Amino acid sequence: MAGHDTEVAAYLKQHEAKPLLRFITCGSVDDGKSTLIGRLLHDTKRLFDDQLAALEKDSLRHGTQNGEIDFALLVDGLAAEREQGITIDVAYRYFSTDKRKFIVADCPGHEQYTRNMATGASTADLAVVLVDARKGLLTQTRRHSYIVSLLGIRHVVLAVNKMDLVDFDPAVFEAIVQAYSALAASLGIASVQAIPLSALKGDNLMAPSAAMPWYTGPTLLQALEDTALQSDDAARPLRFPVQWVNRPNQDFRGFAGTIAAGRVAPGDEVVVLPSGRRTRVQRIVTADGDLAQAVSGQAVTLTLAEEVDVSRGDLIAAADDPPQVADQFAAHVLWMDAQALLPGRPYWLKIGARTVTAQVTEIKHKVDVNTQAQLAAKSLDLNEVGYCNLSFDQAIAFESYADNRRLGGFILIDRQSNATVAAGTLDFALRRAANIHWQHLDVDRQARARIKGQRPRVLWFTGLSGAGKSTIANLVDKQLHSRGLHTFILDGDNVRHGLNRDLGFTDEDRVENIRRVAEVARLMADAGLIVLVSFISPFRAERRMARELFAPGEFVEVHVDTSLAEAERRDLKGLYAKARAGQIRNFTGIDSPYEPPENPELVLDTLRETPEALATQVVARLLAD
Ligand code: ADX
Repeated sequence: MAGHDTEVAAYLKQHEAKPLLRFITCGSVDDGKSTLIGRLLHDTKRLFDDQLAALEKDSLRHGTQNGEIDFALLVDGLAAEREQGITIDVAYRYFSTDKRKFIVADCPGHEQYTRNMATGASTADLAVVLVDARKGLLTQTRRHSYIVSLLGIRHVVLAVNKMDLVDFDPAVFEAIVQAYSALAASLGIASVQAIPLSALKGDNLMAPSAAMPWYTGPTLLQALEDTALQSDDAARPLRFPVQWVNRPNQDFRGFAGTIAAGRVAPGDEVVVLPSGRRTRVQRIVTADGDLAQAVSGQAVTLTLAEEVDVSRGDLIAAADDPPQVADQFAAHVLWMDAQALLPGRPYWLKIGARTVTAQVTEIKHKVDVNTQAQLAAKSLDLNEVGYCNLSFDQAIAFESYADNRRLGGFILIDRQSNATVAAGTLDFALRRAANIHWQHLDVDRQARARIKGQRPRVLWFTGLSGAGKSTIANLVDKQLHSRGLHTFILDGDNVRHGLNRDLGFTDEDRVENIRRVAEVARLMADAGLIVLVSFISPFRAERRMARELFAPGEFVEVHVDTSLAEAERRDLKGLYAKARAGQIRNFTGIDSPYEPPENPELVLDTLRETPEALATQVVARLLAD
């Protein structure tokens, strides 16, 4: 038995050392994708079993999981995706041949396909683009090829499937190859290997097809086995994103992660970003003992010569060739959510091991994926790709996606629902932001508040139009003013006459409306004032954004609560009547949503109490703390 165990171990070792190719299959619903993958899995499994037949079956079963050893060996390669927090409906399948092991991202082909595809594509080396020989290039072919190029996949296998249904006609194949070459050239996809096949019959899949003697190129499996893998990663400067800090006791402090580029050895001088602290690598620790060096792709724990501050999400990089650090970028964003992307709304952005808050500050254009035409856009809908400017709340060390997919690829996460809503690629840092610094002010916030004898605060009144926000804010203002406090009211109707006169009532414009007024409220609080903000502010995301501009306790959210029926009954400005008559579009409560606060500091029930009584409540609350 022992002898067999060694033999199995040796086999597995050899297997482990085989190069890995990750690929994705794309196509539209009926083009035979499942048949193709099913056949590859089935036929390569047979190869695999043949090799294994040489080994004693009992010991194999004894030592592992019933012939599924290859799967287990491949699974570790997926840890990276899990770390990225991407949990999308993509099935990864594993198979192997003598030469290579493979992971294929199998993305189900319904409406949400693009989303699944982008997930699978972000780590793939190669894409198999399936085309039905009878149909030629379809919109889906163009869309998927665009995403393939956007996500930096360098190799495409154009699988012209169902050749049996066009009598294995070389002219049909040629015409499709011509059309696709033009598309690939316009997208900058350099390497395209076209193969005529029949997934159903197995022609040109594992073995050359007797029915297509005119084709002399590789079979699909040969193409997968022979495509050149990118191997220059290790030759580049060191990039090591810190996934977590390992501190089991006082004596050991290690930084764990996977090397994203380059190589590292003890004694190497490194810089920790974004802080910029320099030190040297002390040890490379692994479960199997210390290493003399490690290269791109390896998961290791580094210890450093000095006690420097390193946290999860930081980057340890070659000191003589560090990446840039920035907080504003130009990037491509592929929007994957049914709710549109709104510029100005904060999202979480995950890049490598780091999570920051980010806003799209501007959509430069969106891309028509059929024609590559650039179109003007104010928001991005499901499956749309936009070229955008992004602003982060913290600077990060980064590389452009074209240079390093791990340091330049990101996802956006909705802060309310935690859903992944976009995938994107950083293009370059926006210089204009990098050259602006904070100017130190000698008379600071505290000094300004002290001279007024008050604590700056923001009272944020939110509620439907006609709920009574402005009436109550006005009464609160009078009471505070008569007590000698320094206040100011920012009222939606008034601010929309000046600073925000360029904004209407679409979702995008409301987001921007609130972003601006929140920033103004912050400036006024910095000036030492008690600021009363009276805006419908219908979206939770933007009220939360406003809250986050202030210290805990400074921001007081007041929900001026009225039923829609009551607001409509009062209709002081006659706007509800107009909205019902279809004369005003996007009216809050009618055809535009109002999201009531979940945890406001105060709820004012305008159905039971008078505005005067409610104002007194607000003042009492303010003076109490
Ligand atoms: S917010 O949604 O962007 O916060 P804001 O408070 O600035 O709205 O402006 C709301 C005021 O604009 C309302 O009180 C109403 O007088 C007026 N208004 C005009 N059109 C609309 C509309 N479509 N929806 C809501 N309010 C509107």
